[in-house]
Amino acid sequence: MSDHNQVQMTQMNYSKDRPKAANPVKIEDLTLRDGHQSLFATRGRTEDMIPVAEMMDEVGFWALETWGGATFDTMHRFLNEDPWERLRTLKRYIKKTPFSMLLRAQNLVGYRNYADDVARAFVERAAANGMDVFRTFDALNDYRNFETVVPVIKSCGKHFQGCICYTMTEPRLGGEVYNLDYYVNKAKDLEAMGADSICLKDMAGLIAPYDAYAIIKALKEAVKVPINLHSHFTSGMASMSHLKAIEAGVDIIDTCMSPYAYRTSHPAIEPLVMTLLGTNRDTGFDIKSLAAINEILEKEICPKYRHILDDTKLSIIDINVLLHQTPGGMLSNLVNQLREMDALDKIDQVYAELPRVRKDLGQIPLVTPTSQIVGIQTVNNVLFDDENERYKMITGQVKDLCFGLYGKTAVPINPEVQKKALKGYPRGEEPICCRPAQVLEPELKKAQDDVKGLAVDLDDELIYAIYPVTGKRFLQWKYGKEPVPDDVKPITLEQIKAKKELIQKALAGKLVEKTEKEAPAKGDNLRKFNVFVDDDYFEVGVEEIGGAPVVSYIQPAKAAAAAAATAAPAAAPARPAAPSAPKAAPAAAKAAAAAPAVDGTPINAPMPGMIVRFEKNVGDKVSKGETVVILEAMKMENALAAPVDGTIKAINFKSSDSVPKGAVLCVIG
Ligand code: CO
Repeated sequence: MSDHNQVQMTQMNYSKDRPKAANPVKIEDLTLRDGHQSLFATRGRTEDMIPVAEMMDEVGFWALETWGGATFDTMHRFLNEDPWERLRTLKRYIKKTPFSMLLRAQNLVGYRNYADDVARAFVERAAANGMDVFRTFDALNDYRNFETVVPVIKSCGKHFQGCICYTMTEPRLGGEVYNLDYYVNKAKDLEAMGADSICLKDMAGLIAPYDAYAIIKALKEAVKVPINLHSHFTSGMASMSHLKAIEAGVDIIDTCMSPYAYRTSHPAIEPLVMTLLGTNRDTGFDIKSLAAINEILEKEICPKYRHILDDTKLSIIDINVLLHQTPGGMLSNLVNQLREMDALDKIDQVYAELPRVRKDLGQIPLVTPTSQIVGIQTVNNVLFDDENERYKMITGQVKDLCFGLYGKTAVPINPEVQKKALKGYPRGEEPICCRPAQVLEPELKKAQDDVKGLAVDLDDELIYAIYPVTGKRFLQWKYGKEPVPDDVKPITLEQIKAKKELIQKALAGKLVEKTEKEAPAKGDNLRKFNVFVDDDYFEVGVEEIGGAPVVSYIQPAKAAAAAAATAAPAAAPARPAAPSAPKAAPAAAKAAAAAPAVDGTPINAPMPGMIVRFEKNVGDKVSKGETVVILEAMKMENALAAPVDGTIKAINFKSSDSVPKGAVLCVIG
């Protein structure tokens, strides 16, 4: 241990007024964003953050991460929550501690590069709604993708934290691409861009403690701005890496409150406070007030999310990450996708194919969205390739990557794969080498025109600009133009309790007994749950009686919406096959089955997913190989081509419909 870490145990006292350390480690708390994103599929609701918000504000965190990453997507898609409203609401409770968000640079809070006008408007609106620290990263560490957002962050007077995504190709730091020089050079680039701080972002929990020490030490020597370490616990190394980083002089460490910590999330704050107590890096935090926050989270909040937690394994670490140097979230996505395709037995082939695909695609870091891009392509290769042909089904995103639309890859893309991917690519068959967004036409005006009469302000328009399909659907819910489906409504602790009691009853074999009382009529608050007890399955309706109705938005009721609410929807609400999402809607399967029989060659869904759009209409002529329908699966767009020449005879779904594997999407005759 170096001298500045010498323990000064003069006073073993953990009251809040203990002597201040000479160089306290600053802490960014991630509970309200990365914590629930990592453990609970980003399903945390604003109403479940409010009970602890004011207490969190008192702790003394350097920043609270409250927004960005996947929150914008899941909120409007799965939670019927306006993402902008969360910022404004939390800001009313948290007045002292700066807010931090994860900004995917030109990808904003989505999965592709948006045009400069959308990027500028988004950053301005985020700042206006209360964001303070813009933790900005690019999946390829191509900082040309920062060039649009950084000046806006700066002109809004906000903190620009530049990220270096940590990745490796070897079991430990080093090798030809991702070595110490690579990270030092990236840090210098960020400092030259005006970064107010630099975050080493270890999204997969890959950084080993001694590598963390070496990098932090080197970064502290190379640049002047504060250094922040963000390391996921996934592999089990992060707590050790935190300590070594602190010894190397790191300025800021990211942690979670303990109920939201560990597994694929981050180390908890409480053990770190105790570890540093009395040293010259003492956080100064009051461990008793942390305990009080934990109590509320454990008792009042976590029960609502427990069912989402993947606790099928006893182990809380994933040694596959150590074996495959791959993010845990990506691995679980792959497993989910294979499971949905009934191909879980191919997982070892996927592990073997993954490094090959990554190398073909330029040895890119694996972080959203590149982890999905590499992951889904890997699964496609394993499922659809044969000995005669590789890369049979190339996703739209891989084509974009090959074109240069994500930026510059760490090493050049395999030219054969690139050529195949760009055959017939609409933007051109020659890849670009400029800043990617330079080739994008402005998008904001068109988006505004598209949602005229529906969107009320720029915030609404941006939801649509970033997520056209689900964003539009959300705006229709928000303004009462479409009924809000049950499965996006919040559940209460009472409902959780009722469900638990039913499971207990079922386990005791008492669920079949007939009730003496006559059942009351089913009301509007009825929620349906599937209850699985070993191999038995029950559908259970739970209704809270006498409870106040939940009001998400107050606005004039629309007669059309009320009428639509009573009519049974023809197809289930759109639900893409996102990680941890409940199974694709059975109603969509019914719709497919009910479609009139038309003779011809069908295009079947090769995987469960959501229809983005049909590029053809009934009656259109198509030639073999031409794209007919875009299907989104695991957030990747797949262009499905006509298998034969002919005319479109029938189209069985519409944009935003969920479809099961094998569904007949359309028929060519
Ligand atoms: Co993270």
